[in-house]
Amino acid sequence: MCGIVGYCGPRVVSQVLIEGLRRLEYRGYDSAGISIADSQQFTTVKKTGKIKELSAAVPEDIQGLSGIGHTRWATHGEVNDTNAHPHLDGSGKVVIVHNGIIENYEALKSKLKSQGKVFVSETDSEVISHLIAQYYEGDLEHAVIKVLPLLKGTYGLAVMHTSEPGKIVGARNGSPLVLGIGDHEMFIASDVTAILQYTKEAVYLNDGELVAMTKDGYKTFDINNNEISKQIEQINWEIEQIEKDGFPHFMEKEIYEQVASIKRAFTGRLSLDTASGHLGGLDMLPQELHSIERVKIIAAGTSYYASLIAAYLIERIARIPATAELSSEVRYKNPIVERNSLYFAVSQSGETADTLYAMRELQRKGAKVLGVCNVVGSTIARESNGGVYLHSGPEIAVASTKAFTSQLTIFYIFTLILARMRHMAFEDGLEFIKGLQSVPSHIEQILSKTDELQSLARKYYKHTNVLFLGRGLNYPVALEGALKLKEISYIHAEGYSAAEIKHGPIALINEETPSLFIVPDDALRDKVISNMKEVKARKGPLIAFAVEGDTEVAEIADDVFFVPRPMN
Ligand code: M6R
Repeated sequence: MCGIVGYCGPRVVSQVLIEGLRRLEYRGYDSAGISIADSQQFTTVKKTGKIKELSAAVPEDIQGLSGIGHTRWATHGEVNDTNAHPHLDGSGKVVIVHNGIIENYEALKSKLKSQGKVFVSETDSEVISHLIAQYYEGDLEHAVIKVLPLLKGTYGLAVMHTSEPGKIVGARNGSPLVLGIGDHEMFIASDVTAILQYTKEAVYLNDGELVAMTKDGYKTFDINNNEISKQIEQINWEIEQIEKDGFPHFMEKEIYEQVASIKRAFTGRLSLDTASGHLGGLDMLPQELHSIERVKIIAAGTSYYASLIAAYLIERIARIPATAELSSEVRYKNPIVERNSLYFAVSQSGETADTLYAMRELQRKGAKVLGVCNVVGSTIARESNGGVYLHSGPEIAVASTKAFTSQLTIFYIFTLILARMRHMAFEDGLEFIKGLQSVPSHIEQILSKTDELQSLARKYYKHTNVLFLGRGLNYPVALEGALKLKEISYIHAEGYSAAEIKHGPIALINEETPSLFIVPDDALRDKVISNMKEVKARKGPLIAFAVEGDTEVAEIADDVFFVPRPMN
């Protein structure tokens, strides 16, 4: 995903931009660039490859009043220096960085070309700088306001003009932008991690909002140039949280952080006095919670898999019909909002477009949608009708790990609340709480056996296909396992319900295709063992994740990894 950072102030502008872009590297990119405004012109440097290559190409003596930078993930036009952002207009007076996609850029481009404008890149974004230059009459805010209605699509945008050095105008529609407020300095970014080391005071723009900023202050306004007063939020992340802290990768660090992040997700939210939970952010009276007739959850990717487990828990333990759906499908299917349904939008980032747009459509149809987000102040968190934060800390790795287990923690608590209001006895509520509180120590025990997992990885890493199989609530766990393997190792993997392999996927099983079974000691254990035998009969290598002491599973599987026995 592309990233934006901008700065007005007395620091060395290029350093602030390069450092901000470095912080955004985790989002993935193929090229990057910066533009720095002095009192007369822009100095623009763009490079394919890593930020360190960009940094090496930036002149050391460069002076500036303000600047904008960008990491690009190519969508329109190949990966090269020219297509990298920032993009100037033909006169070199306007420069922009843009996240998002301008859907009508071809029509705009041919009109501009017929007027004699010369384009240098193949990007959709370049039309924006040409249009702003065309509409500029001495006031950058006005020019941007005139251009935005011409653009169809999404944008997070930052713009500078040579006639107004030291000023940046930003605009947002469907792609996040946040301002950072410093002492006689201002920042703008697509993600707070880019500015966290300089300030903790942030203003989050909503869709349709613009900002004009200089080192001495900022003004937020709408497309009709009406000023909007926005709340200043405190960023509650610490700079150490976005450092690797001795780990070789953010993903590994975040896997280890689960012991603490799960604790944070339930701390203050469980009560031994009531044998229930409390999620204040839901802002719902017990009577309202009691009248819920069904729960519907929307999400994407890993958050969707967590939601499948959540729906399973709510239905099974609280006995309330619950479903999870992909937000990308809900968004386009004209969803029916049934009375007394409670909706959740689950999103680590709180910015996933499909989930956000599906949530808005549900809200338009009268749904109450609660957010389960990690990033404080994110769009879903702000626009939902109440919700819960995960408090996992930043998930820099992009591959979701700790957010997944914290999402589950929140839904275990929500399930407990609903179940206790209905049929769950006080003692059973206490047992449930103890079980949940024991999870961090179980994770600690699992992490202490990382060497076992490493030798399993060494044994199997050359295989090109892997099946992940589980049943019940471990079916979505299998889906998530397969997603993680694909995403991180580029090994093809599929997740299935173990019961489904006989309905087709069994054709894939041979000596070259390992199957990883999740085998908890629950009501479905014997059925899963039968499914393992189906694989064994076809000589498929068998890896099992089983509960400590399960010798039967250990005998069938080629390799077994034991996890601690959960409390019942
Ligand atoms: O921020 P979100 O939870 O809304 O993101 C949704 C997915 O893009 C995300 O969960 C993705 O599947 C994971 N990062 C993959 O590891």
